[in-house]
Amino acid sequence: MLKFPKEFLWGAAASAPQTEGHSLMNGKSATTWDKWFEISPEKFNDKQGPSDTSNTYELYREDVANMKKIGMNSYRTSISWARLLPDGQHLNNEAVEFYRAYFQEMLDNGIKPIINLFHFDMPWWLMEKGGWENRESVDDFAFYAKTAFEQFGDLITEWTTFNEPMVHIECGYLYKFHYPAVVDMKRAVQVGYHTLMAHVLAVKEFRNSGINGRIGIILNVLPAYGRSDESADLQAKKASDLINTQSFLDPAVLGKIPAGLIELFRQNNLLPVTEVEDTELIKMNTVDFIGINYYQPRRVKAPTNPKVPAEMPEDLYEPYDWPDKKINPYRGWEIYPRALFDIAMMMKDKYRNIPWYVSENGMGVADESRFKDDSGMIKDQYRIDFIKEHLEQLHRGIEAGSNCFGYHMWTFVDCWSWLNGYRNRYGFYSVDLDNNYQRTVKKSGLWFKELTKNNGFEL
Ligand code: BG6
Repeated sequence: MLKFPKEFLWGAAASAPQTEGHSLMNGKSATTWDKWFEISPEKFNDKQGPSDTSNTYELYREDVANMKKIGMNSYRTSISWARLLPDGQHLNNEAVEFYRAYFQEMLDNGIKPIINLFHFDMPWWLMEKGGWENRESVDDFAFYAKTAFEQFGDLITEWTTFNEPMVHIECGYLYKFHYPAVVDMKRAVQVGYHTLMAHVLAVKEFRNSGINGRIGIILNVLPAYGRSDESADLQAKKASDLINTQSFLDPAVLGKIPAGLIELFRQNNLLPVTEVEDTELIKMNTVDFIGINYYQPRRVKAPTNPKVPAEMPEDLYEPYDWPDKKINPYRGWEIYPRALFDIAMMMKDKYRNIPWYVSENGMGVADESRFKDDSGMIKDQYRIDFIKEHLEQLHRGIEAGSNCFGYHMWTFVDCWSWLNGYRNRYGFYSVDLDNNYQRTVKKSGLWFKELTKNNGFEL
C-alpha cells in the first residue's frame, strides 16, 4: 500500500463565485461575471450564469456533512470580495455572519478550512476604474485582505491570496475567456504586475495582523516541456517557464522577479510601470507555503513569430501529435501524471523545499450523467484511475524528499465554471439543479473515503 505522511491533508477545492449562488443577494454587489452575464448571456454555456451554482449559501451545513461522509479533513474555498465589502469600503454584516457560520461548521466537523481571497471574481466597482490595470487596485486589495484577516483570523489559520493569477490575466487580456476579454500583451503584463503587488501587500497585512497561521498563494505552475529537442523549442520552453511559472513563483517564494523575465519584457518593450519601493516589498513578503493546481502539461514549441512571447502559451491549445500522448476523452486535456513528480522535484530543488500541496487536480467530464447507474450514482471509475495515477507520482516525489503536505481534488460538488457553466463536471458529488440542488455521491467519492481512512491506497 502507498502510505502518505501523517496529518496529510485530503480534500477538495472550490471557490465562492462557483458555489455560493445568491449572487446579487444578501448585500453582495456585482462582479465582472454578473455584469458580463447581464450583457452577453449567450457567451455562457447553456446561458447559465453566476446565480446557477450549487447554492452553498443556503446548503453549507449539508455540504460540510457530505465532506465528512467521504473522509475529507480539509477544504479550500474563497471569500467573495464583492460580498464582504460590496463597495470596497463598508463591511456587509450579513456576509460576516454567513462566512463565520460556514467556517465554524467546518471546524466543528474536523475539516480544516483553507481560505482564499481572490478566485477570478473582480468586483464591478473596481473594474469600472480599470480593475488590476489601475495601481489603486493594489491598495484596495490590501484593505480587503486586512478586513478578512480581522473578521475571520480567529477561525482561519491557513490563508491564500490568489487562485491562478496567471489564468485570470491571460484569460482576461490574451484569450478572451474572462472580462474584459481583450488581446493586449502590454496591458496583460501591467495587470500581472499589479496582481503580484496586491499579493505582496496582502502578505504584509497578514504579517501585521498577528494571526497565528500561514499564508500562501495558489499557482498553476509546472515545468514546461519542449515539443522537441531542437534549440528553438528548448529556448521557447525556457521563456515559457519564465512567463508562466517563475513570474509568480520566484517573487512569492524567493522574493524577487527573475532577471531573465525582466530582460524578456525589456526586449519586447513590455516593461510594466513600477514604484521604487516595490522591489523591497517583494523581497520582504515571501509566503509560507504554495498551492499548486495541476491538470495538464504545457508542451511548448518555438513561437511562429519569435518576437512575440505572447504566442507561446497559445500553442498549448493547438492540436498536435505527441508520442504516447494520453487524452482525457471527456474534456480533451492531456493526462500526464509524471508532471506531479517533476513539480515535486522543482519545489524541492529550486524553491528551497518550501511546504506545498496539490491545491487542484481533477478530471472534467462532459455529459457525465451518461455514466449513471440505475440507483442514480455516477460510476466514475475513470476519475478513480486518474487520481491513483497522479497520487503514485506524488508519492514518488514525497519519498524523494519533497515537502508536500496535501492533495485536493477539483472539486467537491459539481460546480459552475465561468463561461463553461456546467459543461465539465469534476465533483465527488453530482448536483441536480432541477431537483432542489440534490447532491449524490459518485463512485469516486466512496473510493476517496477509503483512501482517507487508510491514508493511502493499493496500487
Ligand atoms: C481551474 C480553476 O483551473 O479549472 C477553476 O481554478 C475551474 O475555477 C477549473 O472551474 C475547471 O475548468 P473548466 O474550464 O474545465 O470548467
